[in-house]
Amino acid sequence: MLWLEKLFLTGTTLATILTEAQSSVPIPTPWPEQFHATLCMTLYSGGHQITDLWYDWPKGRNVNLQQKQLGVYMYDIEWNNGTSFYYTLGSNGSCQVIDFGVGIPRPDFLDGAHYLGTQVKDGFLCNVWEKVDFIWYYEDVATKIPVRWDFYDGMPFLLLSLLI
Ligand SMILES: *[C@@H]1O[C@H](CO)[C@@H](O)[C@H](O)[C@H]1NC(C)=O
Ligand SMILES: *[C@@H]1O[C@H](CO)[C@@H](O)[C@H](O)[C@H]1NC(C)=O
Repeated sequence: MLWLEKLFLTGTTLATILTEAQSSVPIPTPWPEQFHATLCMTLYSGGHQITDLWYDWPKGRNVNLQQKQLGVYMYDIEWNNGTSFYYTLGSNGSCQVIDFGVGIPRPDFLDGAHYLGTQVKDGFLCNVWEKVDFIWYYEDVATKIPVRWDFYDGMPFLLLSLLI
C-alpha cells in the first residue's frame, strides 16, 4: 500500500508542480479595445517613419497617420472587412484602395504565442513572445505595456507612447 500512496503522492506533486509551472508562464496582455499609440518604425529601405495609430476594435477600424522622414502625411484607414484606403491631402493628393483580405488584429491576436523568457530590449526589461515565426513581441515586465514588436522580415515597430 505504501508504495502506491507514494506513487500517487508523487504523481500529485508532479502534477501540481507542472500546473504551477504552466500557470506561471506569462501571457501577453491583450490590447485595449481602443487606444492611440505613436510608433517609430525602421523601413525596409532603411528610412524611418513615425506612425500615429488609432486602434478601434469595437468599430472595426484602424486609422494610421504615417510620416516618413521629410515626407508628406499618408493616411491609412484599415477596415475589418480587409479594405484599406491610403491617401494624401493637398493639391497633389492621391488615393489608393487595397484589399488585403484580412482585417485589423484582434485585441488578443497574441493568444497562443510561445513565451521566450525575459530580455532587456531598448533598455526595458521585457517578457518576450514569438508567434508562428512571424512576430516577436516585447512587453515591459513592470507596466505590461508593449515596448516594441519585430516582424520576421526584420521590420521593428517601437512604441513611443500609448494613450488609452
Ligand atoms: C469595407 O468597409 C468600408 C467602410 O464601411 C467600405 O467603405 C468598403 O467599401 C468595404 N469594403 C468592402 C470590400 O465591402
Ligand atoms: C505637385 O506636383 C507638381 C508636379 O510634379 C509640382 O510641380 C508641384 O510643386 C507639386 N505641388 C506640391 C504642393 O507639392
